[in-house]
Amino acid sequence: MKNEQIYACAKCGAQFQKWSGRCTGCGAWGTIGEDALETEEAAPARALSKKPGNTNAFSDLTKENGSVERVKTLHAPFDALLGGGLVPGSVTLFGGEPGIGKSTLLSQIALTLSQTGQSVLYVTGEESPSQVRLRLERLAPAIPPSLRFLDRNDAEVIAATILKEKPALVIADSVQTLRVESVSGEPGNISQIKAGASILTEAAKKSGVPLVLVGQVTKDGDLAGPRLLEHLVDTVLMLEGDRSHAFRILRVLKHRFGNTEECSVFSMTERGLEIVSDPSSALLADRPVQASGTIVSCLLEGGHPLACELQALIAPAGYGTPLRRVSGFDSNRVSLLLAVLGRRAGVPCADMDVFFNVVGGIRVSEPGLDLAVAVALASAKYDCAVPDSIMAWGEVGLAGELRPVSRPEARLKEAKRLGFKTVIVPKQKKQVSLDGIEIRACSTLREAIQTAGLKKS
Ligand code: TYD
Ligand code: MG
Repeated sequence: MKNEQIYACAKCGAQFQKWSGRCTGCGAWGTIGEDALETEEAAPARALSKKPGNTNAFSDLTKENGSVERVKTLHAPFDALLGGGLVPGSVTLFGGEPGIGKSTLLSQIALTLSQTGQSVLYVTGEESPSQVRLRLERLAPAIPPSLRFLDRNDAEVIAATILKEKPALVIADSVQTLRVESVSGEPGNISQIKAGASILTEAAKKSGVPLVLVGQVTKDGDLAGPRLLEHLVDTVLMLEGDRSHAFRILRVLKHRFGNTEECSVFSMTERGLEIVSDPSSALLADRPVQASGTIVSCLLEGGHPLACELQALIAPAGYGTPLRRVSGFDSNRVSLLLAVLGRRAGVPCADMDVFFNVVGGIRVSEPGLDLAVAVALASAKYDCAVPDSIMAWGEVGLAGELRPVSRPEARLKEAKRLGFKTVIVPKQKKQVSLDGIEIRACSTLREAIQTAGLKKS
């Protein structure tokens, strides 16, 4: 038949009748490839759900008693993050960049659960059985017999195994390696990923087995594939961090059965990922003493206060456009703060190279960090250190004004616990205070820079 061939963008999934170099849907270059038209055979999951017998399956919502049953993985931090464990028949998408530690953490979870005698099925499409064995030998003295591996990519075979064996937990590592016979294209393309994930989801729902799908995510977090599955799954977890650092943050981005505000901090060790019980202290452990360009701030991560150190370095630019290198924070936000510093606070940095870093390889995004970022930049520009006992937080507006942050009392408590003496905060009508902490409230960035004791040297 004519017109059978269509093209799809591997990034956003938009479909086209003609090939082109750039996707008009998301603007990405070189992501469009051949795709199959979704016919009834090509969408097996949809075809499955249309089988006779399924059509009259009305749900009786009155039977639900409100509380959701959980399958505990017995890996304490993971269960806590999910509000008690995985829900039977639920599907969790576990995303993260390659090499960040997804397989490591999931292997630890699989080991913990299988050590109690419960059966766990680990689908190892991504790695060879010998690679998986090597990792497990690092993580545990012995591999329990109830932890079984399936070295297959074929989604139908995996689904059939889930339905037959009904293990306590299934981990499919990864969704990019799933293959569905009836769908054209290589594993990893959009139609293959979608079809493969739907077949496994169907099997999980039918058998009541919780399923974890691993998804590789590219550096910018916005990857080909898994993001498209977000609507299909019940829970989305993202493991973030910098491979060259030990810290990893596991965030809950979507959760149909609990709180999405949650996150846990882990550290990559010789024995896999270990929970960090006091992340603030761990992140501040190697702080330089009285160094210019650095300051500590406190943000709220997953509802908990987290202190982190910010570092800036400013040097005269060489030829051409000055460099702006930012890691761990939004670089546009740093540019904006540099502009505010120049125009509203009398700290011009336009002809300077600027380097900015959040220590520990973590990524932070709260506007409440603005003030500390700006103060670190000013401290770097003046080469004048902010006293080590000072913390700062607050949002900075375009007029150079400071705006309050949420839950200042939680941040104050954390500052006190960590031994800080003074905090620079935005002035507000109802100023929160805490015994033992000196509050220096400022209305503008200019005032905050003076309060921090920063002067041209
Ligand atoms: P991995 O879980 O394979 O990453 P992903 O599945 O997200 O691609 O982890 C990769 C890194 O973790 C690898 O560089 C080795 C390191 N690692 C440790 O540091 N300690 C350990 O105990 C293990 C198992 C891995
Ligand atoms: Mg892996």
